[in-house]
Amino acid sequence: MHKAIPVCGDTWWVGVNDHETDLFESLWALPQGVAYNAYVILGEATVAIDTVKGPCFDDYIDKVEHVLGDRSLDYLVVNHMEPDHAGVIHQLKRRYPGVRFIGNAKTLPMLKGYHDIDADIVQVKDGETLDIGGHVLAFYTIPMVHWPESMVTCDTTTKTLFSNDAFGGYGAHEGGLFDNEKTRERWEGEMLRYYATIVARYSGMVQTALKKLAGLEIERIFPAHGTLFQHDVHQVVELYDRWSRHETECGVVVAYGSMYGNTRRMADAVCRGICEGGVKNVHLYDSSRDEPSLILRDIWRYRGVALLGCTYNTLLFPPLDALCTKLINRMPKKRYLGIAGSYSWSKGALDALRAFAEAVKLERVGPEVEVYASPTDADLEQCVLLGKNMAAAIGACPAR
Ligand SMILES: Cc1cc2nc3c(=O)[nH]c(=O)nc-3n(C[C@H](O)[C@H](O)[C@H](O)COP(=O)(O)O)c2cc1C
Ligand SMILES: [Fe+2]
Ligand SMILES: [Fe+2]
Repeated sequence: MHKAIPVCGDTWWVGVNDHETDLFESLWALPQGVAYNAYVILGEATVAIDTVKGPCFDDYIDKVEHVLGDRSLDYLVVNHMEPDHAGVIHQLKRRYPGVRFIGNAKTLPMLKGYHDIDADIVQVKDGETLDIGGHVLAFYTIPMVHWPESMVTCDTTTKTLFSNDAFGGYGAHEGGLFDNEKTRERWEGEMLRYYATIVARYSGMVQTALKKLAGLEIERIFPAHGTLFQHDVHQVVELYDRWSRHETECGVVVAYGSMYGNTRRMADAVCRGICEGGVKNVHLYDSSRDEPSLILRDIWRYRGVALLGCTYNTLLFPPLDALCTKLINRMPKKRYLGIAGSYSWSKGALDALRAFAEAVKLERVGPEVEVYASPTDADLEQCVLLGKNMAAAIGACPAR
């Protein structure tokens, strides 16, 4: 978006669309870019809420200057210190030397560490308010959503929640900022992909945060990434509640690691079994080629996951092993897991998948299938059976 946009009375969006970063956190693909949403409120005092990633400073400051005109900036609320939102704090201070920084006890060492700032700080406690003249802001800590110092800011006057990473999604804005300016399909998929990659590990803390925020009167949620919500606010809170309680839809992700196609044929047979078991939502992923964040997103969406890998130098084929590591890190629950491996001398893949299954503690669906060299018809029948059992375990899907 090329200019600042008023989003609610005298509250402005001064964020940046980033189409330059290929990988968010140097990990996750950004086919549609990513937005760093930042805001300015023009009360009797002027307040900026969050900033942007370092290289986006010029784009950001043009908008801030446009909104502030001749006025100075009185406060910057630092909801989160991760550099995608706090990357330009020291540049902002250089431009507006009188600015004071609002953060909580856990923000302060990070402000010093990242920006060498330890003065002009207003330290707020959980639930504390600040009257800026025309707006009363309230601050609530939401530890580990996404870092220990993470907090949200509620403008109690406009009933707007500046939620930072919470409720955020990938994807730069394409014309519209708001939920009612784009299709739900467009924002929900990227929001779940963001959840699965960035937030999912802290699902328990998301539940704590949702309970804490439940009593607030909120008409709008303005996150620090992706779509701004003013229409589907309740649905969006409901989605977060569901995702963080590990509630899933009827469907199965089958992800495989294969060099010469033998393990892939096993995965195909598992998919066939799932389909024969009456489940239409089957998603087959190649761990070598498919974007891991898409695999994680669908694993977070669906109730079943089957992982099939060949053995590579006595261990599990590396790209599938990497997917397993990402899954353990996110601690998915209330899902069913099936595993299968292939080998031609030492074995190793299935043993590694068994160890993974122990670590991830998901409910298991059998049979475990271990194949020597190329799967025989009997092996493939076992894979079909694994698929059928998976379909039975995840339960009947609603008719369409
Ligand atoms: C580079 C390489 C390393 C392998 N390392 C092992 C191994 O350590 N132990 C083993 O039992 N099989 C090993 N294999 C054999 C494969 O696991 C076996 O050929 C399997 O059928 C390959 O499945 P795919 O066709 O799905 O790639 C290795 C194969 C390759 C190409
Ligand atoms: Fe973050
Ligand atoms: Fe972020």
